[in-house]
Amino acid sequence: MAEVVIVENPAAAGALVAAEIGRLIARRADAVLGLATGSTPLPVYSALRSQLEGVDVSHVRGFALDEYVGIDPSHPESYRSVITREVVEPLGLTPSLVHVPDGSLDGIEQAGAEYDAKIRAAGGVDLQLLGIGTDGHIGFNEPGSSFASRTRVKTLTEQTREDNARFFDSPDDVPMHCITQGLGTILEARHLVLLAYGEGKAQAIADAVEGPLSAILPGSAIQLHPHATVVVDEAAASKLTLADYYRYTFANKPAWQGI
Ligand code: GLP
Repeated sequence: MAEVVIVENPAAAGALVAAEIGRLIARRADAVLGLATGSTPLPVYSALRSQLEGVDVSHVRGFALDEYVGIDPSHPESYRSVITREVVEPLGLTPSLVHVPDGSLDGIEQAGAEYDAKIRAAGGVDLQLLGIGTDGHIGFNEPGSSFASRTRVKTLTEQTREDNARFFDSPDDVPMHCITQGLGTILEARHLVLLAYGEGKAQAIADAVEGPLSAILPGSAIQLHPHATVVVDEAAASKLTLADYYRYTFANKPAWQGI
């Protein structure tokens, strides 16, 4: 099963994961990072600023999980803009090495297969950051997504559109469709790191980590991965049956193993 690490707060989660990414980049200057959007990975990105200070990151590559379909890439809430603003610029990554699925309507039929081919050509993702939606989605793989799915166009649920309305002027402005790495694509990354904070994510985390494997809860796909780490605060961990066991095993884990 996934390794669960319970931390005090989002800043501690950010520091822990940023340290792991730092170790990865030290090993491999052209590491391939799987980037996530939403508010959850932000503490990781901000901890990475100091973690990577003085490190040559010009060869680091990146692949975002998803993008809205039909949104102007220059819209401040397009995932292209978010990744540029939150990751590429502050960390000083090379923009041409950081990819986001192409959500433009022109060529959308092929965009998924092309994105998967790009990931493959890069040798796959080394470390994939993931958040989780309140309905258990990862990337934009909504409930019902196949565990074997590849990057493709999906329709957002009403709940996800409502959850994401806070980023737009009006709920109606949230796009109806998205293009997202599939669960099968995500599972090919060498290390999955799923983060979540707050009460509102507790049920989705318990279902993803300890519930049955089911397409109704796309996050449960992480149970199929040989190296998945779930980093949660106390509130997001509050519905985990084995929380004490996770605390005990992590407290007794040799530090050199990282996460
Ligand atoms: C969005 C993103 C997901 C993200 C999720 C949770 O829909 N496509 O990648 O994990 O919502 O968002 P947040 O981290 O803001 O809670």
